[in-house]
Amino acid sequence: IIAAFQPKILAGKHLLITAGPTFEPIDPVRGITNLSSGKMGYAIALAAWEAGAQVTLVSGPTALEAPHGVRRIHVQTAQQMHDAVLKSLAQHKQDIFVAVAAVADWRVANASEHKLKKTQHDDTPQLVFAQNPDILATVAAMTGAPYCVGFAAESENLLEYGAAKRIKKNIPLLVGNIGHHTFGKDDNELVLFDEHGHTALPRADKQTLAIQLLGEIARRLPH
Ligand code: CTP
Ligand code: CA
Repeated sequence: IIAAFQPKILAGKHLLITAGPTFEPIDPVRGITNLSSGKMGYAIALAAWEAGAQVTLVSGPTALEAPHGVRRIHVQTAQQMHDAVLKSLAQHKQDIFVAVAAVADWRVANASEHKLKKTQHDDTPQLVFAQNPDILATVAAMTGAPYCVGFAAESENLLEYGAAKRIKKNIPLLVGNIGHHTFGKDDNELVLFDEHGHTALPRADKQTLAIQLLGEIARRLPH
């Protein structure tokens, strides 16, 4: 893989990436999360470093080692991921933002400071949800925004939902995949949506797809 990029197509570029799930506490020992191993995002982070980029990875909880050469920032909740992304953007101008993370759309608004005990609850506890900030939409709306790439894991109607989501988020490139084709797996298949329509990257291991995707991003970057 080290020799995959000749020449280094992202030399001198700064790339910021989110990966993994977020975890939203219910109480100190419980929470809700999304399905995501982090493998696709980490593969892109490593491939971007190999392509010559300076890479900052904001990662939710995963079992993965930090990719070689990549600066990793650990977060747990969507709000923390949002804050870490904005802080990174304030610290250094980024050329590319790739939002791979499976961000929880809602957090528990009535999370308990102490562990909920069955004895306190004759009835089952009721969770109240509040909406989390949309990190990708926030970054895409900033003046001088980096080139923004979104991911969408759908369970059906990928071509229709992917095209609509790219427009709704106001981003130049959205990468779609089908949830049960990717979760926890070492390989995947992707569909790229841009203003011209969609193209498929056929099934391959995630590191190969990451390299192909970065090639697609590099040739779309504004000069
Ligand atoms: N995303 C984000 N912040 C959020 C939610 C999503 O940055 N709070 C990003 C994801 O990392 C991904 C893209 O937005 O790159 C699309 O996420 P997805 O969950 O598919 O889109 P949503 O707009 O949340 O729509 P849905 O109702 O289908 O979940
Ligand atoms: Ca969502």
